[in-house]
Amino acid sequence: MSAEHEIENLLHEERRFAPSKEFAANAIAQPEIYQRAKADRLEFWAEQARNLHWHKPFTQTLDWSNAPFAKWFHDGELNVSYNCLDRHVEAGWGKRVALFFEGERGDTKVYTYLDLLIEVKKAANVLIKLGIQPGDRVALYMPMIPEAIIAMQAVARVGAVHSVVFGGFSADSLASRIQDAGAKLVITADGGYRKGKASLLKPAVDEALADNKCPTVENVLVVNRTNSEVAWEEGRDLWWEEQLNLADREHVAQGFNAEHPLFILYTSGTTGKPKGILHSSGGYLTQTAYTHKNVFDLHEGQDVYWCTADVGWITGHSYVVYGPLANGATQVIYEGTPDSPDWGRWWDIVQKYHVNILYTAPTAIRSFMKIGQSVTTHYDLSSIRVLGSVGEPINPEAWMWYREVIGGNKAPIVDTWWQTETGAIMVSPLPGITATKPGSAHVALPGIEIGIVNDEGVEVGPGHGGYLTIKEPWPSMLRGIWGDPERYKETYWSRFEGKYFAGDGAKFDADGDLWLLGRVDDVMNVSGHRLSTAEIESALVSHPFVAEAAVVGAKDETTGQAVVAFVILRSSHQDQIGSDQDTSKMLRDHVAKEIGPIAKPRTIFVVSELPKTRSGKIMRRLLRDVAEDRPIGDVTTLADSSVMDTITGRINAGAND
Ligand code: WTA
Repeated sequence: MSAEHEIENLLHEERRFAPSKEFAANAIAQPEIYQRAKADRLEFWAEQARNLHWHKPFTQTLDWSNAPFAKWFHDGELNVSYNCLDRHVEAGWGKRVALFFEGERGDTKVYTYLDLLIEVKKAANVLIKLGIQPGDRVALYMPMIPEAIIAMQAVARVGAVHSVVFGGFSADSLASRIQDAGAKLVITADGGYRKGKASLLKPAVDEALADNKCPTVENVLVVNRTNSEVAWEEGRDLWWEEQLNLADREHVAQGFNAEHPLFILYTSGTTGKPKGILHSSGGYLTQTAYTHKNVFDLHEGQDVYWCTADVGWITGHSYVVYGPLANGATQVIYEGTPDSPDWGRWWDIVQKYHVNILYTAPTAIRSFMKIGQSVTTHYDLSSIRVLGSVGEPINPEAWMWYREVIGGNKAPIVDTWWQTETGAIMVSPLPGITATKPGSAHVALPGIEIGIVNDEGVEVGPGHGGYLTIKEPWPSMLRGIWGDPERYKETYWSRFEGKYFAGDGAKFDADGDLWLLGRVDDVMNVSGHRLSTAEIESALVSHPFVAEAAVVGAKDETTGQAVVAFVILRSSHQDQIGSDQDTSKMLRDHVAKEIGPIAKPRTIFVVSELPKTRSGKIMRRLLRDVAEDRPIGDVTTLADSSVMDTITGRINAGAND
């Protein structure tokens, strides 16, 4: 079936699932929320912001005079960590559980809001002792353990800026992110548990800092999670536990300007160099708290919420560390992988903690689907009330499976579209209002204005595909790219005058509901993780055997997209090069070392030529045809139209098996 055909079928989806009457009646978000936001968008956002605690109230909601650099609530002052912790304790909820931590090996730990506040205050005092000042950058490279959340909250509390690097990235990726941000401190752990064993992190930090590669780093704070032997640099390295034990338990949170930077998070763009997406405080916390409450229908004090994302990604920032804590939620965090010790692990956790709200990614849902309904039969999932999906388009089959098998045919599914750059959810059903439709992310949230435009920037009507844009600034929008304001303007605001360009293709169906059609740029989405073709290509060509490389994202049943690489080897190394299988393994390992295991190509084709236009641009469209094993499209714009025959000839001859 052609892609166009598939989309047409999707757009005629007729199944609808309205919330039950009881759900609708008790839902946090009621239908008038849309009218309220429409009537006065800025006042609507100001109302949301006033739900936070302000050390100094703001008087102006938005200053857009220096567009696209927004200032929200900018004459107000607040402390993000005070909003997430102190105010709940002061309101008398100190005994409410903030975190149920489940270690991969079955060890558990419970933190109340008071416990968490005490730890964060101690950690804040450690940071101050180490000379961390407001505005300083602190890099984190952590497993999914409570200390990661404590560290992020402590950094925010003292007005410093965290840059969390996902633990699956390599030492090289970590080093380049530390350098770009100029981090003064690194917080890490000896390791964490994954797939039944200790997976070490500290050695990658040591490697990243070796040979004075990151001269800005003065100290490394290390959590002892796995009791592993790790190298130690006296004077630089400090144990987290020892430092916290020595620290003062009192710390008074001071207010910072609403536009004070909160964090940098690196993400892949269309070039080889990851972008440091910069977020600030007041607007970010406003929108993450608002969306977390309304989209997930959070009844604080009653619901147990679980988001399966790692803190290394934006979902872990907005929907583990900030939104839920700002709302006083009780949440579960889990250290390990879903298959440890077996594929029942998540469902065991849902049963054990009576999880009411589950937020995860389509790639995980599809993995469970493959195993089948049996994964859940031994578990009681009846506590589940709301299901969320994020990170990539969810296909209707996976959506239905999620609804029937996990949601017991009753829990509304909220398919949430957003990005690292948007900071918080932008498009999603509201679970007590929307009659959901499998596969559609539905409509922009109250307060958000989106449009789908054609190449000329003109809005297209229902049924026509186009580019997804955001038409008005929103509180949790990125404030820029760290150290590169020009790249910020160029990447997001130059394609369509006055509009933010998201990089996604989309369509409205006849009901005006939104369907996301995937990225339209050179960004791939593998298991919900963003990878750029250019980044992996440059990792490949950094290998001495590789002359040229082209990478495409090919459809994959489980991971959504998979990385497929085409490489031309250097003839000068011909005698050292083994079979194509050996080469493929060697290059996959090389990419894992350069970027991290998540970026490993699924398939590497060794080819003798790449399809290029007369101007030398690689025609990825044709390579995608090869990677997805379908007839090759139009080759007339190729400089040499026989190239594709050579490539497919070599592949079909089994040279790459
Ligand atoms: C994709 C993750 C379809 C999209 C929060 C976007 C989605 C990119 C959805 C951002 C969804 C995210 N449906 N596609 N519900 N959610 N995406 O920065 O292509 O890791 O541009 O943020 O993921 O990925 P990022």
